[in-house]
Formats: sequence, structure tokens, C-alpha cells
Amino acid sequence: MIKRRTLIVSSLGAAGAGVAIANHYLNRHQAPEQPQKRGIARFAVTGDTPLRERAADKGLIYGAAAQHQVLTTNVEFAQRFAQECAMLVPANELKWQALRPTPERFDFSRSDWMANFAQRHNMLLRGHTLVWHRALPKWFEETVDRTNAAKVLTEHINTVVQHYAGNIHSWDVVNEAIVPNKTKDGLRQTPWLRLLGVDYIEMAFRTAAAADPQALLVYNDNNLEYDNAKTAVKRTQVLKLLERLKSRGVPVHALGIQSHIGASPQGFNAKKLRDFLKEVASLDLKILITEMDVLEKNLLEANNRDAIIAGVYQDYLSLVLDEPAVNTVITWGLSDRYTWLTNFAPRQDGAPIRPLPLDAQLERKLAWNAIASAFDQAPPRQVK
Ligand code: XIL
Repeated sequence: MIKRRTLIVSSLGAAGAGVAIANHYLNRHQAPEQPQKRGIARFAVTGDTPLRERAADKGLIYGAAAQHQVLTTNVEFAQRFAQECAMLVPANELKWQALRPTPERFDFSRSDWMANFAQRHNMLLRGHTLVWHRALPKWFEETVDRTNAAKVLTEHINTVVQHYAGNIHSWDVVNEAIVPNKTKDGLRQTPWLRLLGVDYIEMAFRTAAAADPQALLVYNDNNLEYDNAKTAVKRTQVLKLLERLKSRGVPVHALGIQSHIGASPQGFNAKKLRDFLKEVASLDLKILITEMDVLEKNLLEANNRDAIIAGVYQDYLSLVLDEPAVNTVITWGLSDRYTWLTNFAPRQDGAPIRPLPLDAQLERKLAWNAIASAFDQAPPRQVK
């Protein structure tokens, strides 16, 4: 049985590591001279303690997403994964498409293997995701209509959540429900919204809580990090959604910030991001960084990119870890050998991308150092 971690505000919360501000971030990204050397010095860490232990020393959880196919076929990767990670997120195996071959059947074979792998290696398991507009099975459209949608949704959540009840740390109950637009409080037009109206989010959280009263229930979303008008609107709409859910007594416990971050000179605004995290925390919600990786699609220069990518990890993580409500950091994969971005955000010059802590040979690289040093410098949380 897995206990939910509860954090209390650390007295060191405000005195955390120094944080890069937007301008510094922009400048550094455009300064190519002697970068490799500077990068290595900047990301020096002491010892070879794995990420999971460095995080745990501060009351934090570090984990990563992985695929069943990879964990079952690459023994060395599986070993490295267990060494570095205290949490496993099945990247696709708990999505509808994977679990629901037919309207009648649930296929837990791959996700059960992963749950077992996590348990064997003393890792927490995290569920992703119960409600999403993507990764729906082919039969969904022909089978689900207004008359049966509530039944289909609640049966799915009941069955899946009960299956892992007591053995799962948290669930992404709803994923990516907001897009910054001017209609319906920014609610994305999804099959669920069309079939069930705005109450589908509340229905999903209430059903999940009843099926597993112990799991941490998370609202997860992307594109919340940058300093631009569209993202500012999205942050406000996500906050409004969370406020509305809380005010109605809906059992939502945390916000998941995906954090697929571009290594292009877009930049964060430290103050705006901190204020957002504070507002989320003030709703009595935890915050998880759920899918971090660094996209280099727009990073035209091929030199020095490991240092730039590591710089994004360091800047972003040191900023968010200053907020005591942030208690978990997950990267969307562990090794560059297996990253979804190879297909979803390739480089224009075709060079292999390097968005994750380990390289394609499973060796630690500068991004690993940056994450390690962000954990080492993070203000400690106290686990109740
Ligand atoms: C991605 C997986 O990593 C890919 O293997 C799959 O083909 C598509 O989905 N945001 C999410 C994740 O919430 O579910 C996505 O995962 C990455 C973006």
C-alpha cells in the first residue's frame, strides 16, 4: 500500500536557489562562445548519487515515463530506470486505446507488468490518464453517444481506478481540458464536453475518488510555462477551473504541469510563473511537474546544445522547486534513445535530439547534472 506524501511548507521555502530571470535566459541562449566549458562548470555536481535519492533527500519524488515495450526488451535500460527513478509512469499503457480493445474488454496485461516492475524496484506508480480527448479507441466514436456517455465514462474510471487502488500514487484524472479560447471558460471541444457538457470533469474526479480514496487526483495540462499572452490566458483559465472545482467540493488534489519546454528563446517570466504556482498552492493543491523534456526543434545551432538544454532544466527546476507545493518532478522518458519527441518534434537538420537526462547510450549527460543540482539546491520539504 502506498501512502500519499503530504508536504508542509518548509521554513526555507523562500530562500531557495537563485533563479534565472527572463532576460538572462534569453541572453544565455544566444551566447555561443566557449559554451561547453561554461556549461560543464555550471552543472558540476558532487558524487554519483542517483536522481531518486537526491530528490528523496529533499522530500521530493523524481520519476519518469517509460514504455512497456522498452522495459521488457532492454534489460540495461530497465536497470538504469530503477536506479534513477522513484516513480514510473506508463507512457501509453493506461490510456483508453491501450486498455480498451473493445467496448466490453479491459486489457491490463501491459500495465500490470509495469505495476509489478515498479513494485519490485521500490518505485511508486502513477496513472496517466483517465480522461483525454486523444488516444481514444476506434470503437469510441461509433459506440458512445449522449445516452450512454456517462455510463461509459464512469465504468471506465471505476474499473481502472479500482484495479490499481492501494497500489498507485496518483492519477491524471483529466488531461488537457483547457485551450486558451474565448468560449466556455476555455474548455477544449472534446468528445467528453460534447457528450456530457461541462460536468464531465467533476464527474470524473468524483468517480475516481470513490474508486480509490487514497490516490492523489491530478488535473494535468500543458502550455502553462511561458511568458506570452496566450499562455497567460491559459494560466488564468486553468486557475478558474481549479477554483470552481474546489468551491464545489470536487476531490481534486493537485495540478500537473506537463512542462514540455522549448529550448528556444521564448523564456519564462520568473515572477509570473511563481505567482501562478503560489495561486495554485493557495487553493490547497499540490503541484507536480509531470512530463518534463526539452524540445530543441527551434534550436538551429547544433553546437553546445547539451549545455543549452541543461540550462533550461536548471532554470526551470530551480524556479519551480522554490515553491514548496511542488513535490514531484517527472521527465517524459529517461534516455534520448526512447523519446516521443523524435517523432513529434524532430530537428530540422535531422540530427538526433537530446531532450532527456541520459543519452542514447544510457550515459548521464549535462541535463542529468542540471536536474541533480536543482535537487541538491532545492529547499527541503518535510514529509508528514
Ligand atoms: C505521448 C507518448 O509519449 C507517445 O508515445 C504517444 O505516441 C503520444 O503520446 N502529453 C501527454 C502524453 O499528456 O500522454 C503524451 O504522450 C505527450 C504529451
